[in-house]
Amino acid sequence: MKICFATNNSKKIEEVKAALGTEYEVVSLSEIGCFEELPETGDTLDHNAFQKARFVKDHYGVDCFADDTGLEVDSLNGAPGVYSGRFAGEARSDERNISLLLEKMEGKNSRNARFRTVIALILDGKEYSFEGTAEGEILDKKVGSGGFGYDPVFKPLGFDRTFAQLTLAEKNEISHRGKAVKALISFLSNRKF
Ligand code: IMP
Repeated sequence: MKICFATNNSKKIEEVKAALGTEYEVVSLSEIGCFEELPETGDTLDHNAFQKARFVKDHYGVDCFADDTGLEVDSLNGAPGVYSGRFAGEARSDERNISLLLEKMEGKNSRNARFRTVIALILDGKEYSFEGTAEGEILDKKVGSGGFGYDPVFKPLGFDRTFAQLTLAEKNEISHRGKAVKALISFLSNRKF
């Protein structure tokens, strides 16, 4: 089954391909000839995920799913949340986002945080959504070189390594996106049979 994952983030495509296995052919935006930036103007993860998925369906006519992820830090009242990508500005720099986060966390007692992912799916003219969360804490410095985004400063609950120190398979097993993708796969599998 061929389905477009509405992203240009090769790390995300890799993560989702690994989780979906060979039963599904996941194609990226560039593989369907989409090289424009997708609109993402909402103030909730749900809004943005559906906005991206509908844009692809409307302009490229393919079934697809889109994800939107936010990092919610308790001591920052849930920030950066839906604005995680643009936390330190529109240029979307992981480096600057992490620096700003660590700056804002200085002196905070609670370092609890969670990643939340919403996946919006458009299939055969119908819309569905799936969610996944991963609890953890924000370290006071970067550790590890794998993954992307805030991975080097996020230590998932029950682990003594950051997301950036886990293998792709380990991260997929416990991550927000991994869980949301599992819910998506379970839906797609049940639908087939
Ligand atoms: P987006 O929804 O994929 O645009 O992600 C929003 C922000 O969260 C960006 O700064 C991403 O780098 C970051 N992000 C998304 N997924 C992950 C993840 O699995 N680990 C770390 N950061 C992530």
